Amino acid sequence: MADSELRQRKAKADDSKDKESKKLRTRTQEDDDAGSFRLDVLRVLTFLFLASCGLSYVISSGESFFWGMKNKPNYMKPDWWKAKFSGPIYLTPDELSKYNGYEKGKPLYLAVNGTIFDVSNGLNMYGVGGSYHFFVGRDASRAFVSGCFKEDLTADMRGIEEMYLPIDDPEIDSMWTAAEMEEMRKKEMEEAEKRVYEGLKHWVDFFTNSPKYQKVGYLVREEGWQEKLPMPELCKANQDKRKRRIPRDQQ
Ligand code: HEM
Repeated sequence: MADSELRQRKAKADDSKDKESKKLRTRTQEDDDAGSFRLDVLRVLTFLFLASCGLSYVISSGESFFWGMKNKPNYMKPDWWKAKFSGPIYLTPDELSKYNGYEKGKPLYLAVNGTIFDVSNGLNMYGVGGSYHFFVGRDASRAFVSGCFKEDLTADMRGIEEMYLPIDDPEIDSMWTAAEMEEMRKKEMEEAEKRVYEGLKHWVDFFTNSPKYQKVGYLVREEGWQEKLPMPELCKANQDKRKRRIPRDQQ
């Protein structure tokens, strides 16, 4: 074999070796790229999973990592958004009474100071047999302030300030002049009205700000509805709690 032919064959062999190794390198590069793509996808999925767990934990106030909370915040409920956009509902006391848990498929509504709240999320308390079932289907503002859950299931607040007023005692009260007594009574009444207002406001704020409940509307009543009812009496428990004024010489 001629020398030049030998050199040519060697060159050819080297060339095909080169091509082979190039192919191998390209394949390794492709394998590397595919591997790193899979790793990137895995990283993104892991990040999304951890972020979701973290977000669920924060939103549920530590209740669940997996969005499994019993009481979802209102903004996560389609009904809440529906109520927001459909505007408030207006119910008469009769209509409100249907939302007391006895009619299947109806939410649980209660009213405080004329504002209606959906308390369906408090089923164990407000549902039939619940410890506070008596509050649903009505406006029992008076009971919210007085704590008399049998006698005071009404929105009629007339005379409730009395629960915070002292009982008159002629012997003790004679320590003040008539003018002083009048001034004192005025102050006592102002203080009592303030306590009633704050007591009722406490519950209106409670239901308004609760993440479990939502405001849905207002109660509509005929003009002068209270005057048609007999004047409510102070419940016995609160009557018994009233004290006499502290005698002037012991103040
Ligand atoms: C003016 C007096 C009171 C009013 C108006 C009142 C009202 C309420 C209301 C509306 C709820 C439900 C809160 C919610 O929806 O999350 C509640 C829950 C509760 N109240 Fe009262 N309450 C009064 C007095 C008391 C007293 C004196 C006690 C204790 C002896 C008490 C014990 C409870 C308990 C244990 C719960 C939780 C019930 C449950 O998880 O099933 N309450 N209260």
